[in-house]
Amino acid sequence: VRGEPVAIIVLGASGDLAKKKTFPAIFSLFYHGLLPTHFVLYGFARSPMSDDQFRELILDTLSCRVIDGERCQEKMNHFLPQCFYHQGDYYDATSFGNLNDVLTHGFEMEHPKTNRLFYLAIPPKVFEASCSNISINGRAHNGWTRVVVEKPFGHDLPSYRDLRSSLASVLTEEETFRIDHFLAKELVQNLMTLRFANVIFEPLWNRHHIKSVQITFKEHFGVEGRAGYFDHVGIIRDIMQNHLLQILSLLAMEPPVTLCAEDIRDEKVKVLRAIQPLKASDFATAQYAAKDSRSKGYLEDDGVPQDSRTPTFASCVLHINNARWDGVPFLMRAGKALDERKTEIRIQFKHVPGALFPVTNGAEHNELVIRVQPDEAIYMKIVSKVPGLTSRMEEARLNLFYRHAWEESKDIPDAYERLILDVIQGEKSLFIRDDELEAAWTIFTPALEELEDRSAPMPEVYHYGTTGPTGSDVLAEKYDVHWSN
Ligand code: BG6
Repeated sequence: VRGEPVAIIVLGASGDLAKKKTFPAIFSLFYHGLLPTHFVLYGFARSPMSDDQFRELILDTLSCRVIDGERCQEKMNHFLPQCFYHQGDYYDATSFGNLNDVLTHGFEMEHPKTNRLFYLAIPPKVFEASCSNISINGRAHNGWTRVVVEKPFGHDLPSYRDLRSSLASVLTEEETFRIDHFLAKELVQNLMTLRFANVIFEPLWNRHHIKSVQITFKEHFGVEGRAGYFDHVGIIRDIMQNHLLQILSLLAMEPPVTLCAEDIRDEKVKVLRAIQPLKASDFATAQYAAKDSRSKGYLEDDGVPQDSRTPTFASCVLHINNARWDGVPFLMRAGKALDERKTEIRIQFKHVPGALFPVTNGAEHNELVIRVQPDEAIYMKIVSKVPGLTSRMEEARLNLFYRHAWEESKDIPDAYERLILDVIQGEKSLFIRDDELEAAWTIFTPALEELEDRSAPMPEVYHYGTTGPTGSDVLAEKYDVHWSN
């Protein structure tokens, strides 16, 4: 693969996503010698910009893990001359034709077998036009063409289906790479290894031994500056329907036949299809308000309508109707402007049958905790005898803290590095297949329709920087679950 030249074309080159994630990840791959030796990077966007200004933009926003002074500078000196800017309009086939000419008569003269990777860091309204223009005027002449798309993939089931059919008329499934960057987080990638490469977990991984599963996503900042996007989307579409549901599918799926992308994705789809579609009553939703004069409430953010009912927090309970999970509640919660930034999974086991040991102050349930971020860790809560002449028991932990266990954990690649590398290598297991999205929207659409109906109750209010609304605790208690805070 390293031998095959590639042209990477980033659409939406002046936008936030490209600046914060895409360019730093591409540079980091270059820095680590993971990009093909012969490559060229084109930024494509509407605003006028010279090549030099584009290079400045890449340099200014470089926030990746490899900023290490001299060596970085030296690599950057080799990287930037490979970067160019092309001004164009997403709706205009000629703009893509011009880019094609530039590539054909430039880089590809010397490297006629160049693959083309289009990275769409653009708003959803220009997805369809861009893909169609790529198909007409952007395809590689003598290599593969791959197109990376970012969520949102539709707004609900019908709009997803429309988007899918219009994209499918111009790009094949093989050419389409749908990103969910949570799949490339180190701990999420480790879920399959943990489950299927260790003999101790799989025999317990079912309704006979697991009492409940919690998946939590918290951020300690609000939507500051992103309200234009967020108000239309809300936390359920922003985080739950994609990132958390993807985690759930990896936790709950059956073992795949092999580690090939299609086998893994077959199992994910199967488990998603076994999930009962959600109703509004399966949810608790809420919106943050200012806590004091130093914080801004959601409604005070620029671009948020005063009567917005968009939830910035939601929790819900999902049921998987299959033999492995019948009766086990899977609880999810996601929120902005909470007390901390944390993504974690908690698998709580049932209590030990019989009464040999007295129940110990809430420690009677083993719990496996997988902390996705920050400070990656996996730990197991067990009951242990306290050392000494006493027979007292207490909860103790078997710990795998990544930063203690592995030197490499100081330098965990950003999710986008893994993903872009996988696109170049044609590895699809970390990308979402179209039928996964169909299943995901089938689960969430009925509840979204109910919750967004004008007659539905307003979301509860919680205060910026707190642990979230009480409605979420009430929902969890119905299933005998207490959120861990
Ligand atoms: C994005 C959401 O997909 O994920 C954002 O749109 C959210 O709202 C972000 O902040 C969280 O990702 P990470 O990797 O920063 O935890």
